[in-house]
Amino acid sequence: MSKHFEDKVVIVTGAAGGIGRATVERFVLNGARVVATDLKDAPIEETAAAVEQSGGEVLTAAHDVSSWDDWQRVIAETTRRFGGVDFLVNNAGTEGAVAAIEDSPEAVFDQVMAVNVKGVFLGMKAVIPELRKRGGGAIVNLASVMGVMGGPTVAPYAASKHAVIGLTKSAAIGYGSEKIRVNAVGPAPIETRMMRSLESGMAPGEEAGMKAGIEMQIPLGRYGTPDEVAAVISFLCSEDARFVSGSFYTVDGGMSNY
Ligand SMILES: NC(=O)c1ccc[n+]([C@@H]2O[C@H](COP(=O)([O-])OP(=O)(O)OC[C@H]3O[C@@H](n4cnc5c(N)ncnc54)[C@H](O)[C@@H]3O)[C@@H](O)[C@H]2O)c1
Repeated sequence: MSKHFEDKVVIVTGAAGGIGRATVERFVLNGARVVATDLKDAPIEETAAAVEQSGGEVLTAAHDVSSWDDWQRVIAETTRRFGGVDFLVNNAGTEGAVAAIEDSPEAVFDQVMAVNVKGVFLGMKAVIPELRKRGGGAIVNLASVMGVMGGPTVAPYAASKHAVIGLTKSAAIGYGSEKIRVNAVGPAPIETRMMRSLESGMAPGEEAGMKAGIEMQIPLGRYGTPDEVAAVISFLCSEDARFVSGSFYTVDGGMSNY
């Protein structure tokens, strides 16, 4: 793999999870220095160990993306260690509960919004001044195909991912003149903890049948891998995407075209 991110610094949130970890690994292979953050009890050291084994440089931080104080600390630690930031991958996310609207607890709605929407907003708010100091940069926000579709038992999640696309487009317009590009990625079904949780929420005890049913709705006939999402995130940060901003890239095997 080419080292086209040499001298670049990227912050990846939710880096202990499936897509986050694959994103960290891909950036490291491309020569970037990485700040990998996640909640304090998440197994971030597994991501860090994988990076160190491949000879990469990683800084880890305990980080709740819904906390402005945490964002300020992460930015301060990043600039102290690496001197600045070039890219942000707002990847941390939560699925909430699988339930019809009338059965969804208010607290779950608030939690999904706090992580998936406020977390992305605060991340951009915190990092944009740092990207400006570098003369530009790129932000990739993790939306979902649920950012352009509805889901009867995941309404708060779908609403939060629609909001991520709104935040992405607004930031792309607001900061394009400063060479800050902002794009969103819309994965669906990707082999991670989150999909296992959704399968068991939708069909308790019949997860395998649920997975097979979902695969039948995917033109490419299978779930995606975390690295297949990381590849698109990496492309959107690269020079090859220098004229791409405000876009929404699905990584869904064609599923959202039905
Ligand atoms: N897996 C899929 O099929 C799929 C589909 C569409 C979108 N996505 C999105 O991709 C992103 C990554 O999902 P994943 O599949 O890797 O799930 P995952 O559950 O493996 O990883 C999510 C990570 O986010 C972290 N996190 C949760 N709340 C946080 C908070 N408040 N602060 C910081 N970190 C927090 C978790 O600890 C976890 O490590 C999410 O935004 C998700 O909504 C995933």
